[in-house]
Amino acid sequence: MYRTHTCGELRIQNVGQQVLISGWVQHIRDFGGTTFIDLRDRYGITQLVFDMETNKDLCEAARKLGREFVVSAEGMVRERSNKNKNIPTGEVEIEVKKLKVLNSAQTPPFTIENETDGGEELRMKYRYLDLRRNPLQHNIILRHRMALEIRKFLSDANFLEIETPYLIRSTPEGARDFIVPSRMNENQFYALPQSPQTYKQLLMVSGFDRYFQIVRCFRDEDLRADRQPEFTQIDCEMSFVEREDVLVNFEALTGHLFKAVRNIDLPPFLRMPYSEAISLYGSDKPDIRFGMQIQNLTDLAKNKGFVVFDNADQVLALVVEGAAEYTRKQLDELTEWIKRPQIGGTGLIWVKFAVDGSAKSSVDKFFTPDDLNNWKAKCNAADGDLMLVVAGSNKNIFSVAGELRLELGTRQGLRNPDHFAPLWVVDFPLLEWDDDSKRFFAMHHPFTSPIADDFALLATDPGKVRANAYDLVINGVEIGGGSIRIHDRNLQMQMFKALGFTDEEASAQFGFLLGAFEYGAPPHGGIAFGFDRFVAMMAGQNNIREFIAFPKNNSGRDVMADAPSAVSQQQLDELKVKLIPR
Ligand code: AMO
Repeated sequence: MYRTHTCGELRIQNVGQQVLISGWVQHIRDFGGTTFIDLRDRYGITQLVFDMETNKDLCEAARKLGREFVVSAEGMVRERSNKNKNIPTGEVEIEVKKLKVLNSAQTPPFTIENETDGGEELRMKYRYLDLRRNPLQHNIILRHRMALEIRKFLSDANFLEIETPYLIRSTPEGARDFIVPSRMNENQFYALPQSPQTYKQLLMVSGFDRYFQIVRCFRDEDLRADRQPEFTQIDCEMSFVEREDVLVNFEALTGHLFKAVRNIDLPPFLRMPYSEAISLYGSDKPDIRFGMQIQNLTDLAKNKGFVVFDNADQVLALVVEGAAEYTRKQLDELTEWIKRPQIGGTGLIWVKFAVDGSAKSSVDKFFTPDDLNNWKAKCNAADGDLMLVVAGSNKNIFSVAGELRLELGTRQGLRNPDHFAPLWVVDFPLLEWDDDSKRFFAMHHPFTSPIADDFALLATDPGKVRANAYDLVINGVEIGGGSIRIHDRNLQMQMFKALGFTDEEASAQFGFLLGAFEYGAPPHGGIAFGFDRFVAMMAGQNNIREFIAFPKNNSGRDVMADAPSAVSQQQLDELKVKLIPR
């Protein structure tokens, strides 16, 4: 027997009981006459006491233990003289009578504390130790609780959890596939699914009506804090629905999760057309926790002799409330920041509206006080505000202004991680033109239906077609995305055509889906949430690695297991795979 109680369980009511607990040694404090050990497990920490006078041998044995040894201790629960109000077990301790070392441990390479001294690579290498730390334990437990709530909620709403295959056909759309050679089918490859998209649509054709799956997806793309090569989706699909039905259902799921997990009541979700998101926030995933909307100064600022503005398609401004006090150094810093390649700005103009009503700008040479006052009026700026202006081409200037807005929001402390501002972004363009390959790509995926009013444009002006698609955005993070699907074979063929597929290519790659559409496909639509992002968001964080038990690093490596790795010649031979010597 290893334990009668966990390390998080004993309270003042247990005083006088004989108990047995097991766990890891967190701290040893040796005061000569008495030795204290904090014993830790997933449930908490309990103090063990060893007394030199009453049991010298045991006390000496305790002193010899090291951090992270696994031990079991038996003894009597007693009230602590020096209580620790910070932990639930802090009123009691165990006067140990028997101690057993279940396993020794090397000194861990970093401290197993809430704030550890380990760097990220080291923590990834010893992930099993990092996972012992409280913050990570909480993250993984939060993930479990959310998965459970999701399953309960969706199951109660008649959704069925159905597994779809992981070894599927490679398709050229979307991100890059991870591919897997087939031993039994020489020179042929499976792909790991980027999402179960086509399978869930087929399940609708099969009549399952409401499907969900908490499912792993695989995408070979560049990694960031909110992207992993394998990540998890809450993937859903519904039959006989229109956009509104999907939005209402999944707004309810989101609201339920926030209530169940954080006891937060979310406000009704705003709906914002994509075009508005771009023009006001410079992003298709606006952070609406704060205002500071983008203002358009193009008409007022152009043709006044300032060549930067005159050559630009757009002149955009942001007003930072009460920030006229920004120093020269702060403004120079922001100017450097905006010129970073990942932001893509060319420069930054500033105007300070002083509290005395005067205005001073970095372009005083070109603009009179009257000009500046016109800008002030157009943007509803007030005395004491700072205005920052960027100019550039239609292609990137909204995104530059959007990034600047986020940076200023962060600097001004307007992005409180415990405040949640959800919205649906709707009416995305269906297609996106790619200058390099000179063709359209599906902005969401090729199965998304155009908005009915725009069907005809698909043949004549594809770039203008709006998609019946929607994204759930919370605090500037794209938590989920989905659409009403095409369920008509002809429309689907038209869509493939707009994407540059010949009929033969479309049939070869998506014949199974097109075939299914000939056997009574119901109208259907769905959505997928990024589960890792959702869990991180719920904890007010944005690095999803902290919410995945065994994540990959930024180069897509599992540094603990050292994957990917070379394989044996025999494996390669069986697969008929030849390596190109480097
Ligand atoms: P989409 O590609 O928008 O849609 O993906 C849905 C959600 O998954 C999350 N996500 C990711 N999370 C972590 N790492 C990644 N590499 C990653 N890529 C995406 C995002 C995103 O919103 N089949 C469609 C859904 C549908 O139409 O029903 C799809 O996969 O939070």
